[in-house]
Amino acid sequence: MAHPPERRLPVAVLVSGSGSNLQAIIDAADAPSYGAEIVAVISDRPGVRALERAATAGIPSEVVAWKDFDNRAAFSAAICDAADAYGADALILAGFMRILAPNAIARFPNRILNTHPALLPAFPGAHAVPEAIAHGVKLTGVTIHFVDEEVDHGPIIRQVAVAIESGDTEATLQARIQAEEHRVYPEVIDAFARGRLEVLGRAVTWKEPV
Ligand code: GRF
Repeated sequence: MAHPPERRLPVAVLVSGSGSNLQAIIDAADAPSYGAEIVAVISDRPGVRALERAATAGIPSEVVAWKDFDNRAAFSAAICDAADAYGADALILAGFMRILAPNAIARFPNRILNTHPALLPAFPGAHAVPEAIAHGVKLTGVTIHFVDEEVDHGPIIRQVAVAIESGDTEATLQARIQAEEHRVYPEVIDAFARGRLEVLGRAVTWKEPV
């Protein structure tokens, strides 16, 4: 985050819940040198804490309610339409608990980012933290990746390991994983916004800052 970018990349942040990752991105984007600007927060459900965080930060928000659509493709198209309406060039998934259909991936190819609370390809899906404890792994962590047509599968941008301690509960482990997410996700978004991430097949390389 060395110098201000020529133009901040407009992004929409997609949320479903507490929005602690959204908050970390909001806080990072406060710096004039940050590469991205949050132009909208879009939630698949009303009344969530993430929407309050957006309002407090003065960021426009919108609810595209999952239950209002007949199928995943229609829901995904509506999410993309909402993001387009705010001029977003990328989608940042931050605790967004819905799977986007291929039509969304086609509209934002390698322009949708997600954070997942495990070291993919281990423990994909919505229960990664308790599954890692139940499996007895010693290391889990955070994976930030591009979103493709398969769940928790796209090209990996960055991973951070978190050790599982004896006596960890889902809550204690989740807290340490989230602390890492809050640290690295804003950094990854900044690098992406500055055009530093190069994707070749599954391989993502980080170019030096210019
Ligand atoms: C994060 O841990 C993320 O990895 C997972 O859902 C959680 C969302 O938390 N996909 P928050 O809404 O950002 O607080």
